[in-house]
Amino acid sequence: MEYHEVDTGELPMALLLEADPAKQRIDAYLAGSWGFAAREGNEVIGACVAGLIGERTAEIFNIAVAPSHQQRGIGSGLLHFVLTSLAGKGVYRIELGTGSFGHQLTYYQRHGFRVDAVVKDHFLTHYPEPLMEHGIQHKDMLRLSLTLEPTISAPSGE
Ligand SMILES: CC(C)(COP(=O)(O)OP(=O)(O)OC[C@H]1O[C@@H](n2cnc3c(N)ncnc32)[C@H](O)[C@@H]1OP(=O)(O)O)[C@@H](O)C(=O)NCCC(=O)NCCS
Repeated sequence: MEYHEVDTGELPMALLLEADPAKQRIDAYLAGSWGFAAREGNEVIGACVAGLIGERTAEIFNIAVAPSHQQRGIGSGLLHFVLTSLAGKGVYRIELGTGSFGHQLTYYQRHGFRVDAVVKDHFLTHYPEPLMEHGIQHKDMLRLSLTLEPTISAPSGE
């Protein structure tokens, strides 16, 4: 498995739609964002889009692994690569929105994300179809954040 920073145009739309069913919203955040890919051979099987929303604050807008490749550690490897890459770009705070229950929430928490706020009714007002998981409808969105450790570059020329 290889992880790379890529042009957002190289990320398969089908993969991005796994995390966010609204193509119009995806198109809006692709421009000007950073793209990251998990590749097996020539195939992109994991994708992530992140962009600046403040001076040193980035948001992860989208992260997804192809359904047939999930639960193999690729999502965790990709998220770790993204966090390390963003730290290298001088980002110190990362934010994102996710559902209020389910494996996505624990996936982010395992990487150190903490809950900042609840956006009540987000999935009711922004999604045309009910978003179900384990027979429960997603209604509220959690805003999560993570503060990154600064990366210290080794002194050069010694
Ligand atoms: C969230 C996502 C990127 C995780 O990718 P992944 O490659 O499956 O992740 P990993 O294999 O590294 O697993 C991470 C954890 O999630 C758990 N997990 C992943 N898929 C799961 C599933 N369908 N049901 C239950 N647990 C699941 C794993 O067991 C693992 O738990 P652990 O840390 O306790 O071992 C992937 O599920 C996905 O693409 N989902 C659809 C898009 C999406 O929801 N994106 C996030 C939007 S907020």
